[in-house]
Amino acid sequence: IHTQAASIQAEKVAIIAHRGASGYEPEHTMQSYLAAVQQKADYIELDLHMSKDQQLVAIHDYKVDRTTNGTGYVKQYTVKQLQRLNAGKGNKKAVIPTLEEIFRTFGNRTNYYIETKSPHEYPGMEKELLTLMAKYNIHTNHVIVQSFSPESLKTVHRYRPTMKLIQLIRSKQTNMLTDQQFRQIKTYANGIGPNANTLTKPYVQKARSYDLDVHPYTVNDEKQMRTLIEWGVTGMFTNYPDRLYNVLHNK
Ligand code: G3P
Ligand code: CA
Repeated sequence: IHTQAASIQAEKVAIIAHRGASGYEPEHTMQSYLAAVQQKADYIELDLHMSKDQQLVAIHDYKVDRTTNGTGYVKQYTVKQLQRLNAGKGNKKAVIPTLEEIFRTFGNRTNYYIETKSPHEYPGMEKELLTLMAKYNIHTNHVIVQSFSPESLKTVHRYRPTMKLIQLIRSKQTNMLTDQQFRQIKTYANGIGPNANTLTKPYVQKARSYDLDVHPYTVNDEKQMRTLIEWGVTGMFTNYPDRLYNVLHNK
């Protein structure tokens, strides 16, 4: 990684590497983030939980069971204990990364799309995220914070009004948001992250009419990528950043 990542332009469709290039490498490992950067993703997506000793770690689930050889809740383990687990797959070994290690490794050479996964479980996680950004000199324009929790996004908004924020929308919410909901989201966030399978063209157009970004999750099929681009989305989460890059650049 040698080049400075460009800050994201509003007009372009952002390639968001979901849990890294997790279609190719074990999710939320340095290998998957590195592959994402090599595949020209604009953002690496990170889900955050907190260890027993209050450090932010990149892992999707509350528990370590699915993605490591361990069992139990992330918050029951110190970082040192978590990092003894194997987060790899097959004969590839990998370690659960801390956010600090990720910032130290990639600096401002990529952009980060960071999810505060369970803010009610981990009071202070937003503050800790901002502290680490300051420590590693990660610029605000290299970060988007996403959450299903409006409270968590509002907390970040209070601390850092210029931070770009995306309100995630639950998959079960199959209908379009109401005008009141769009207006409410607009008071603190820059866009929405809905499940791609709940979207329609009018839904995307409505969100865009509020000048909200629309970043659906998780799109791995090239045909669906083309359809969503045609509907006007401004980015998407994918486990295969190279596929979205090809759709965007090798039309
Ligand atoms: O953050 C977008 C998408 O990743 C939300 O779903 O469960 O994969 O974190 P999840
Ligand atoms: Ca996520």
